[in-house]
Amino acid sequence: MPWTPGSQHSADECGRYCSSTYYPGCWIGELSGCSYDSSNTLYCDYTPTHCAPPPCGRLPAGIRCADAAEPVAAAAWLEGAAVFAFEALERELSAHRAPVGLIERARSARKDEKRHHRAMTALAARFGAAVQPVELEPVGIRSLLEVAVENAVEGCVRETWGAAVAAFQGECAADRAVRRTMRAIAVDEAEHAALGWAVDGWARWKLSAEERDEVDAARISALAGLVENTVKSQSSEILGLPGPEASAKMLAGLRPIWIA
Ligand SMILES: [Fe+2]
Ligand SMILES: [Fe+2]
Repeated sequence: MPWTPGSQHSADECGRYCSSTYYPGCWIGELSGCSYDSSNTLYCDYTPTHCAPPPCGRLPAGIRCADAAEPVAAAAWLEGAAVFAFEALERELSAHRAPVGLIERARSARKDEKRHHRAMTALAARFGAAVQPVELEPVGIRSLLEVAVENAVEGCVRETWGAAVAAFQGECAADRAVRRTMRAIAVDEAEHAALGWAVDGWARWKLSAEERDEVDAARISALAGLVENTVKSQSSEILGLPGPEASAKMLAGLRPIWIA
């Protein structure tokens, strides 16, 4: 490579040496350039373009995507984001006079996510990775349709998938601490997924036929996005993250849940 040490290069120039997208498990980054340092090492730079689904749990409205990070730190950041997602869900369920049982489950899920955030932050520290703070734009109370559409994507699709991936990691991670942490998280995430479906069932009852179609379309579209992203997923032996093949098998098994 005829580049001078210390030089910076554009995405076009770097495309020969860096992959065009970076997919550490929880978001997608697009190649923005690269630099070549004095020790002859090439660093590829990526700009996060999308907080991607798997295995990401629930993201709140107004979230500002963090920079791409090491996978455990990214997962810890997502657990922190889920705390805000359940805080918003509890507030919006109350505003729309949802049954007390659903509101209490959202409150309990928020506490779970705080615990997950602490546990994953500790794991990230073990891997020498720092977790970025979660930043949000303020979002007020939205219509029931907006809440239901978001719930279909974040709860019914992403948290259901997140629960399956956490269970997979709990069994397959080569690192014992990761296995132990993910087993505990998987149990909670399965309840969060069940809560997502319960919210879906309640909201559906209050929505018009057209609005229900909109919720269904959002769920199907989120599933398509999930399938597309898992094709690019990177497996990790230490973390037990499923690669494209294992993900495809899990998706096929779960498909009847999403497409009735
Ligand atoms: Fe979580
Ligand atoms: Fe969750």
